[in-house]
Amino acid sequence: MKIIRTVKAMQLEADGLRMAGKHIGFVPTMGALHAGHLSLIHCAKEEADVVVVSIFVNPTQFGPAEDLDAYPRDFKRDEALVAGAGADFIFYPAVEEMYPEPYHTIVSVDTLTEKLCGASRPGHFAGVTTVVTKLFNAVKPHVAVFGQKDYQQVAVIRRMVVDLNMDVEVVSAPIVREADGLAMSSRNAYLSPGEREDALALSSALEEAERMILSGVRDTGRLWEAIESRVMKKASARIDYIAMVDPDTLEAVESVGQRILIALAVFVGKTRLIDNRLIES
Ligand code: PAJ
Repeated sequence: MKIIRTVKAMQLEADGLRMAGKHIGFVPTMGALHAGHLSLIHCAKEEADVVVVSIFVNPTQFGPAEDLDAYPRDFKRDEALVAGAGADFIFYPAVEEMYPEPYHTIVSVDTLTEKLCGASRPGHFAGVTTVVTKLFNAVKPHVAVFGQKDYQQVAVIRRMVVDLNMDVEVVSAPIVREADGLAMSSRNAYLSPGEREDALALSSALEEAERMILSGVRDTGRLWEAIESRVMKKASARIDYIAMVDPDTLEAVESVGQRILIALAVFVGKTRLIDNRLIES
């Protein structure tokens, strides 16, 4: 496995691979890897001949009061995990390599980014779409794999790829969970043992909502109350949002149709966790 630190070297490598007729699969990450990230690498290996994983903690997608400095970084550990999962390259640029001064360009998607996480994290998705565009231009992938854990992120990236005629196929992969249901996240490392218990409220509230829907509940107000009361029982939990939306437009719906996305963001202590469930009835 090869580690590449500059955009130019990554582009030359990608050109060589493309000339040799290889299909390039790409998994963008911010490191602090877990089994969720590794599942994306496995998926990319099925879709492509060579797999590039990027590790870059992107400053432009963090708000001023967010955890950019505290975000866990352990390149040696990540490197071993990526090699173990069978990827071929790690693209590991420094911040100055990705954002050399002067820097004045952003890529931003409207409408889809105004709801859910976009409403609570102003500027976050512009940071994501800007860095993903820059990463695509460095890695030149045929296919890029993203996790449904960040459902809105995949929706926004699909919109961007279509709107800007980017020649990349976007594939999404299912949420990987701990044995007890907690969605894996690099931010789970921040949780104290008590908070780790409380964090289970997200997945269990989503499961309960699914049970209610499958038993015939159609009113999203009732689902909202059931989720809220389950989360509020946890001492360290504070709701950021509970959303019941159309899975394609992310617009709120009042009653459950054939497909509904329920998405949650909850602060557990100081840690903001997200989870979601796509329910088809
Ligand atoms: P990061 O949070 O490191 O996530 C990288 C990828 O892993 C994303 O596509 C995310 O959805 C996926 N992922 C995280 N947890 C997962 C889980 N439990 N199951 C399945 N997939 C999971 O998302 C980002 O980084 C950044 O915004 C990035 C796209 C790299 C741009 O900076």
